[in-house]
Amino acid sequence: MARWQPKLGLVQETLLLTLHARALDAKLPSPILGDTLSAELAGAIDYDFGRLKVKPSLVATTALRARKLDDVVRAFVAVHPECVVLDLGCGLDPRMFRCDPPPNVGWYDIDFPEVVKLRSEHLPSRSHLIGADLTESGLLDDIPGDRPAVIIAEGLLPFMPGDSFRRMTRELAGHFPSGELALNGYTRFAAWAMKYHPTIKALGIKAAQGFDDPREPESWGAGLELVEEQFLTRAPEVALFPQPLRALTRLTARSTGLSRQGARILRYRF
Ligand SMILES: C[S@@+](CC[C@H](N)C(=O)[O-])C[C@H]1O[C@@H](n2cnc3c(N)ncnc32)[C@H](O)[C@@H]1O
Repeated sequence: MARWQPKLGLVQETLLLTLHARALDAKLPSPILGDTLSAELAGAIDYDFGRLKVKPSLVATTALRARKLDDVVRAFVAVHPECVVLDLGCGLDPRMFRCDPPPNVGWYDIDFPEVVKLRSEHLPSRSHLIGADLTESGLLDDIPGDRPAVIIAEGLLPFMPGDSFRRMTRELAGHFPSGELALNGYTRFAAWAMKYHPTIKALGIKAAQGFDDPREPESWGAGLELVEEQFLTRAPEVALFPQPLRALTRLTARSTGLSRQGARILRYRF
């Protein structure tokens, strides 16, 4: 594979962080996600990944949240084999290859036009690609609205300014007859603290969004109902975390408050 240089804006560049974390996980003797396509893709990119200062904790939580969100997609597709899947802020995540849905599933990968262009150039094409700014309306014109949908937003919420995530959620939930929205949640504190994270600092990102109460999205006017708040500190896959992270995570798991500040998966039906 020829090496290529990504030309991305600040927010878009965060996709390299998650890609790199998945690639590092794939190279471990006992990976959590085992996404070898991400490893292959990252290996072909001419970029100083070292500047992102990715630590083992970020590798483990990124791989684990991706695995849990993949599980949400697989479970939904198993019940609705003709559904629509939206991966919002998909970056260069080859989730469709990991989930390998049946042919009647309509899969839409959505991100800024420059990101979608990179996907089309560097990832094998299986999904529908939509280049759009998710803070703007009009994204749904090309997506069928007569089938149930599972909507994934991984690593997106902190980067959507003001109430744009809420507005987008209302629009999406109104477009489909029924479905699920799943995202990795960030509390307000976690979002605030993000700007001090060495990786986010290295990228120069200064503001991020989050919410504390997992039921807050029920008040967004999108008809969302909380199905599950899953704390990743309590996932069985923590057994695969390296030490001392594993011991620290198990200690954190004893406290709901501390677990909520860490990585969690939120799942809503509409
Ligand atoms: C942390 S990355 C996560 C990428 C991918 N979900 C993953 O897990 O590898 C955040 C992604 O959200 C995208 N994004 C952020 N704001 C967006 C917006 N307003 N419209 C479209 N995409 C957006 C970025 O371009 C980036 O690809």
